[in-house]
Amino acid sequence: MKTVFSGVQPTNKLTIGNYLGAMKNWVDYHKDYRAIFSVVDLHSLTSKISPEERKRNSFEIVTLYIALGLDPAKNIIYYQSDVKEHSELAWILNCYAYMGELSRMTQFKDKSTGQENVNLGLFAYPVLMASDILLYQTNIVPVGEDQTQHLELTRDIAIRFNNLYGDIFQIPEKLTPKLTARIKGLQNPEKKMSKSSEEPNDSVFILDSPELITKKIKRAVTDSEGSVYYDVEKKPGVSNLLTIYAGVTKKTIEEATKDFEGANYGTFKKIVCEALIEDLSPIQKEFEKLIKDEAYIKEVLIKNSEKASAIAKETIYKVKEAVGLPVR
Ligand code: TYM
Repeated sequence: MKTVFSGVQPTNKLTIGNYLGAMKNWVDYHKDYRAIFSVVDLHSLTSKISPEERKRNSFEIVTLYIALGLDPAKNIIYYQSDVKEHSELAWILNCYAYMGELSRMTQFKDKSTGQENVNLGLFAYPVLMASDILLYQTNIVPVGEDQTQHLELTRDIAIRFNNLYGDIFQIPEKLTPKLTARIKGLQNPEKKMSKSSEEPNDSVFILDSPELITKKIKRAVTDSEGSVYYDVEKKPGVSNLLTIYAGVTKKTIEEATKDFEGANYGTFKKIVCEALIEDLSPIQKEFEKLIKDEAYIKEVLIKNSEKASAIAKETIYKVKEAVGLPVR
């Protein structure tokens, strides 16, 4: 059986960018794949957030995974830090990754520019990500577009390693949704919607109340033309709202555009809002129910991290044997 793997960093609350770009599509994979979804808490150590926040976000994201419809009996849902092989493989692969290729990572450049004392973890971040993926002999990685460069690096490292030692790693493929791979900010529709945007109305969070979602969409930047159609260059704000609408209703952009023939921006935004709220509210309700059952979530985490560890150990064994480290 083929494997699908993906993850989310617990650096903040999750946005509809995370949802539409990645998570919404995760739910059905278990039917055809061994499905593994991690909360990559070790990655979040590269960002400055408090221990309490990290703990809270991690717990909420696992709960959200289940609320979204990921059945923990059919999907392996776990914290990255509970499976120590991630760190072990990351160290080994650090020794097969080049400073030059890591220096070219645009996310590293964006996050480190203008910062004093950039931590080494931020630089090595893509190697830990490669380890997450390669540890499970992953075939496909469903992510948003911003992860493209990291996926290419993962493939390069895996191919390099295999060329040296034989067929150790499966070479993974990136899978991005056609339309929603890059949801933009509501206030800055030229830039991606981000968990950690400074601008309070730029991102819609998955757990935002209907009132807050309405307020944010109402304030979303559009243009002065007054007609609704898709043209990312000319109409970035309107095109982004159309993309969000198409994403939650599972329509094509043509079908979505048709729904707004003759509509003004007020009506357009109202309908986008309603569709978004309708899609998110069952997830929110399920989340509210699940988050109260801490014991259940903890049990899911323990059981699933054991399943993940068992797979991870097999790869680590192969890797250690390949490079000449002791195995027993
Ligand atoms: P993270 O936590 O930033 O984002 C989680 C997922 O959401 C996608 N995403 C978006 N998609 C569309 N539009 C947006 N505005 C948007 N913002 C975020 C991301 O592409 C991602 O799929 N490095 C990863 C986490 C990670 C990982 C992995 C992912 C670590 N190891 C192994 C896959 C496999 C990250 O920071 O994602």
